[in-house]
Amino acid sequence: MSAFDLSGRVALVTGGNGGIGLGMARGLAKAGASLVVAARDARKSAAAKAELEALGAPCEILDVDVADEVACRAMPELARAKFGRLDVLVNNAGVARGGRPQSLSMADWNLVLQTNLTAAMVASQAAYPIFKGQGGGKIINIGSMYAIFGAPFVPAYAASKGGVIQLTKSLAAAWAVDNIQVNAILPGWITTEMTAGAKGSETFNAAIVERTPAGRWGEPEDFEGPAVFLSSAASDFVTGHSLAVDGGFSIQG
Ligand SMILES: NC(=O)c1ccc[n+]([C@@H]2O[C@H](COP(=O)([O-])OP(=O)(O)OC[C@H]3O[C@@H](n4cnc5c(N)ncnc54)[C@H](OP(=O)(O)O)[C@@H]3O)[C@@H](O)[C@H]2O)c1
Repeated sequence: MSAFDLSGRVALVTGGNGGIGLGMARGLAKAGASLVVAARDARKSAAAKAELEALGAPCEILDVDVADEVACRAMPELARAKFGRLDVLVNNAGVARGGRPQSLSMADWNLVLQTNLTAAMVASQAAYPIFKGQGGGKIINIGSMYAIFGAPFVPAYAASKGGVIQLTKSLAAAWAVDNIQVNAILPGWITTEMTAGAKGSETFNAAIVERTPAGRWGEPEDFEGPAVFLSSAASDFVTGHSLAVDGGFSIQG
């Protein structure tokens, strides 16, 4: 359907070299977009580039640590320069650090807040003049189930992801007049490097499957369609929304 066609569009995906980010990048590539993958691990980025190009998508890599504010702010313009335009920013790069609130170090707190929340703000700020100059754009921020549920073992992560929902609404309200739609995706429990430990635990794995109405973990492929929808003209009147992609995890009491 043409409303979902991303031919001629350019998407920047932070953390697009693995996990959910690569899943979304694959979807955008299949819909016709060119990709810019921003991440730190050169080996993973090279493999992602080869995979996306095999799907027919031109792909460029940016070596960026989004927790470095200066590098993060420069990133959207560097991405625009790769293909001459920028239409979609996906703020996906994220980290988690465990620790009960009473013992969590401020270094871990700051790293998680900087990577998961501040970087989304900084990159969005830097993308704004590009999108405004082009007549519009799309931003997708990545939250979590812990954006809505408390998390005693990862409090910084929950705080950062809760902030992602409110940042998404605030940017959406501010920039709707500029034809910039800002939405969030809230993943449930998804098979990636981040959750390898949890999935590897027999007890934890069973609890997740039991707690998820769909009866399974999500996979990076589950993010292809949602990413295409929120990047395309199909969602031009959708803004400030947080879309749970969680197999029903968040709606079961
Ligand atoms: N998996 C889940 O169940 C789940 C659930 C809810 C939300 N999420 C969220 O989904 C997003 C993707 O997570 P994932 O599960 O796909 O994890 P993942 O497999 O660990 O991937 C994380 C990605 O972020 C990149 N990254 C991390 N820190 C970065 C930094 N400072 N600068 C640039 N890139 C950075 C990593 O690439 P480099 O190492 O190469 O930099 C990697 O590509 C995160 O925001 C996460 O919080 C995941």
